[in-house]
Amino acid sequence: ASEQHLERSNSMGVNLANDDQLRALAEQINAEAARPWRATPLVPGANPAGADSAVTSPADRRQVVGHWQAADSATVEQALDNAVAAHDGWNETPAAGRAAILEHAADLLEQRMPQYIALCTREAGKSIPDGVAEVREAVDFLRYYAGQARKLFTPEALPGPTGESNTLQLSGRGVFVCISPWNFPLAIFTGQVAAALAAGNSVIAKPAEQTNLIGYYAVKLLHEAGVPEAVLQFLPGDGATVGAALTRDPRVAGVAFTGSTETARAINRALAARDAAIGVLIAETGGQNALIADSSSLPEQLVKDAIGSAFTSAGQRCSAARVLFVQEDIADKVIGMLAGAMAELKVGDPGQLSTDVGPVIDEDARQILVDHAARMDKEATLIAEAALDDDAAHGCFFAPRAYELKSLDQLQREVFGPVLHVIRWKASQLDAVIAAINATGYGLTLGIHSRIDETVEKIAAKVKVGNCYVNRNQIGAVVGVQPFGGQNLSGTGPKAGGPHYLPRFTTEKTITVNT
Ligand code: NAD
Ligand code: ALA
Repeated sequence: ASEQHLERSNSMGVNLANDDQLRALAEQINAEAARPWRATPLVPGANPAGADSAVTSPADRRQVVGHWQAADSATVEQALDNAVAAHDGWNETPAAGRAAILEHAADLLEQRMPQYIALCTREAGKSIPDGVAEVREAVDFLRYYAGQARKLFTPEALPGPTGESNTLQLSGRGVFVCISPWNFPLAIFTGQVAAALAAGNSVIAKPAEQTNLIGYYAVKLLHEAGVPEAVLQFLPGDGATVGAALTRDPRVAGVAFTGSTETARAINRALAARDAAIGVLIAETGGQNALIADSSSLPEQLVKDAIGSAFTSAGQRCSAARVLFVQEDIADKVIGMLAGAMAELKVGDPGQLSTDVGPVIDEDARQILVDHAARMDKEATLIAEAALDDDAAHGCFFAPRAYELKSLDQLQREVFGPVLHVIRWKASQLDAVIAAINATGYGLTLGIHSRIDETVEKIAAKVKVGNCYVNRNQIGAVVGVQPFGGQNLSGTGPKAGGPHYLPRFTTEKTITVNT
């Protein structure tokens, strides 16, 4: 490993404020976009039998982006056999060697940023800034977990009586299955895989059905960087078939999952029902994220941060603000400014640099939002609806909306898209607001806008969440800076991009020698 990697620093990404850099990047992305992308299972020794399916762009369903082939049951079996056989060799590779491979992958990914942004834009409908953020976060995860592995896997001598030596050492658990969502198809996919590999596990990666191409090219890059093909295998397919077959298999030691709370529960049940060693589940799930603003907050900053937190990535971030609780003294002003700011949003082609909000991932996601809006139209007050560009006619677009509600009880579950709900509160109701947020059972992100230290401290102490942001937006956690993940219905912990994540992928052994 080169010395430069021993002190990790996060990826520099692209300076989005520099128009020349951005235009040059957009040209490179366009040049990459027309490749004949194709994803297949990556399983040595398997001959998957299934036919190809077309991948179409969420921004324009008439455009075919590429093709993918699902894994059949024989391929799943082969992958599990391969992973078991490959584990010991990889686990016995010194951690520094594993780390060096992941760092090499990070370098390659940074060099090929336009290709991966093009994939994110075309397959997942990501805007260009979101694509840049995806690549940066994936690079950061690779370097961060590599650095953690170098530290954690150094055997630790423990104090003990004279005549005895005691050492604690970590080891990979075995076969780890990584199941990821479509909304961070490169960053979360790569983060899970990087952690499991850094810790010495063999890995089977199952991407979300909607983003197979991105997962495939991430795995190809990791192979090119030096991860053996049987140590990291790629199994595209439906959650209910391929995902479920993996999680009920007794050969699997652990699952890293990011997705909905319902699926995490199903995986937990599948792991528990096996006649096998007790499997580990690391789950990062949904949220019902609130932003509490009191009358001391600055309306301009509040509205900017609320818009950014609710509508960036078309609201398809687990961290996104779903409910703005605004103190009544400033509510009319804030609601008026919110409507004004929403009128400025440009909603359309994610490949255009000027676009603020791209499409949602697919027609099912759009229909859920349409149904939610129909209910809100009856039960709440529409504050504003952004306009759709003409170029949005053939894609899965849903224009951002804001509604005023009377109570949080009007929302039963996470609404995964660009819808912000606003609720007014009186000074005497702060405790009730905090109780209502905690009563949702979710605990992912929380925004606080206030200039009063005691109010900030009270809210931050009492709301049960994993990530709390004060007087800024509440999305975009940075690896190693804001370790990310929630509690209760939002996840099992530990936090991704934090110091306690990697140990969950390991087992510990104490060796005592009578000297
Ligand atoms: P999802 O639960 O539908 O799917 C996630 C993954 O699970 C996919 O790969 C899917 O194929 C797989 N899957 C589905 N059923 C399965 C089963 N029975 N067994 C095994 N695997 C199965 O979630 P989604 O719609 O892809 O993602 C959106 C959700 O993810 C939202 O709830 C969002 O809040 C959450 N999310 C959370 C975080 C976080 O860090 N907390 C980050 C991103 C997304
Ligand atoms: N880590 C992502 C964010 O913070 C989900 O927005």
